[in-house]
Amino acid sequence: MKIVGISGSLSKHSKTELTVQKTLDFIDEQDPTVQTELIALSAYNLVFCDGRNPDDYEADTRTVIDKIAAADALIIGSPIYRGTYSGAFKNLFDLIPNDSLRGKAVGITATGGSDHHYLAIEHQFKPLIGYFNAYAIPGGVYANNGHFAGGELTDKNILERLANLAKETIRLSTLLNNSYEGPAETAIKRESLQES
Ligand SMILES: Cc1cc2nc3c(=O)[nH]c(=O)nc-3n(C[C@H](O)[C@H](O)[C@H](O)COP(=O)(O)O)c2cc1C
Repeated sequence: MKIVGISGSLSKHSKTELTVQKTLDFIDEQDPTVQTELIALSAYNLVFCDGRNPDDYEADTRTVIDKIAAADALIIGSPIYRGTYSGAFKNLFDLIPNDSLRGKAVGITATGGSDHHYLAIEHQFKPLIGYFNAYAIPGGVYANNGHFAGGELTDKNILERLANLAKETIRLSTLLNNSYEGPAETAIKRESLQES
């Protein structure tokens, strides 16, 4: 099984990246047979989605799209910007093909300055995952700036919750075993959007 972590922050000392990496570390500890990889968007030069066929993207954009398509499950994370995920994070989900998350387990994390926007996981991130016919792990973990100290994620409760998110992501992905018998396509096809 391969689980890819996505950090949707472009900042240099990213709390989102720490959070997603910590979750991947818990996965490594809990099941060493699982292969994990972090995709920090700050390390890749992604172009903006311009509506072309996803097969036609090149360079870093191609690399990231392919890594996500090849993953069995994902741990996603974004800083909260203006009450929702970052623009960089949304752009990634505009770039990937409609079927690249179908039937996959997705663990959700978010980081915000305060707890004001913790429900963004329910109201913003989960509908995005739903669009792709993927399975969001119930819950999701929201860390605020007070949960970090000295460049580390230090809050015990958040760490416990991330360990649980790691466990549940492995468990659901194992149960799903890459078999998905739901709708083959998202409700609205990309082609029909281009024709209109
Ligand atoms: C442009 C911008 C908008 C932000 N908007 C919010 C917000 O609406 N709610 C919030 O709780 N924090 C907000 N923040 C704070 C960040 O979400 C927070 O510092 C986060 O931990 C940054 O993650 P990073 O270190 O991975 O970049 C904002 C920060 C920036 C730069």
